Amino acid sequence: MIYLDNAATSWPKPPSVYETLGSFLQTLGANPGRAGHRMAAGAAAAVADCRLRLARLMNAESPNHVVFASNATDALNLAIRGLLRPGDQVITSSMEHNSLARPLRSVAEQGVRVTKVLCSPQGVIDRDVVAAAVSPRLRLIAVTHASNVNGAIQPIEDLAEIARHHNALLLVDGAQTLGAMPMDVQSMGIDLLAFPGHKGLLGPPGTGGLYVGPQVDLATFTPQRSGGTGVRSEDDAQPLELPHRYESGTSNTIGIAGLAAGVRFLEEHGVQSIHQRESSLTRRLIAGLEAIEGVRVCNPPAGAPQAAVVSCVVDGWSPADVGSVLDQSFDIACRTGLHCAPDACRTIGAFPEGTVRLSPGCFTTEDEIDAAIAAVAEIASTPSA
Ligand code: ALA
Repeated sequence: MIYLDNAATSWPKPPSVYETLGSFLQTLGANPGRAGHRMAAGAAAAVADCRLRLARLMNAESPNHVVFASNATDALNLAIRGLLRPGDQVITSSMEHNSLARPLRSVAEQGVRVTKVLCSPQGVIDRDVVAAAVSPRLRLIAVTHASNVNGAIQPIEDLAEIARHHNALLLVDGAQTLGAMPMDVQSMGIDLLAFPGHKGLLGPPGTGGLYVGPQVDLATFTPQRSGGTGVRSEDDAQPLELPHRYESGTSNTIGIAGLAAGVRFLEEHGVQSIHQRESSLTRRLIAGLEAIEGVRVCNPPAGAPQAAVVSCVVDGWSPADVGSVLDQSFDIACRTGLHCAPDACRTIGAFPEGTVRLSPGCFTTEDEIDAAIAAVAEIASTPSA
């Protein structure tokens, strides 16, 4: 099978991830941080090791600034619901995944003012439009780093500057970028970075987290759940300090250990070199698809910054039918439809049917890209049933 659905979840994983998941519960299956015995200490050390690797990867100030969550959606909910209060303004974009758009809709119903700026037809935010949308109650700018529909990358540093200028915070959804391209939260000016563990970081599903930068006032950032943390057990209030303030209950140690194995693989192979490989595969895929008559590629133009996510539509075919033929006749796995990002599809002119999305990963080969291009060409030259 040719797997081109890495934007949904990366597959395959490095062998070390499977090995870790296979053995972890037998060797370090105790509860981390809840007892002094050696196996509990070993489990706690595995969690600490993953936190340290993630902090290094994104250049966080310290591992404590990395809070584990179940996935990027969970982390976005934590940030949005924990920070925003009625009357606050949050600026977002028309390229967001429902993981960000729906929690924003939910807080809007409670009196938060959500300002959605329209992106270009290529899916890029204009910093001047954001600057013009700022009101005196701006609390947060919340945007994706790269679109999960067409890979468009947003001008994060510019948005950080606007947020900083207005004493607001910048929340970034790194679902398509952390692990897939170099990221430095400090130099990019990111205050909060939500990330999944199972995409570019090559870990298992059910893992992810939120980077919480030092500019975030924890006293006004309410946890979404409280409970046992293994620290300050004498106090009936949730601890104030990171990461415990936002991590209650027994953590997903096996998932976190698997995630650490994924990050180790990235350290060994280098995020920059993986990014260069994926970028070259992405350019090859876009060029091949653009050359097919009847295929419209929905990505930013060649040369514009973009993640390894390519969307197209085929004349006379619904995206769902293209995906089904790719799967059944060519053994190629992709995603079709709205990709949980209806606004993004509207912005790039692909609503309501959405697109055919092909997303290479770090194990994709040039031959696989060429096979996918040839398959789409064959479909495009055939009338739909
Ligand atoms: N957010 C993932 C996707 O875009 C699931 O497919």
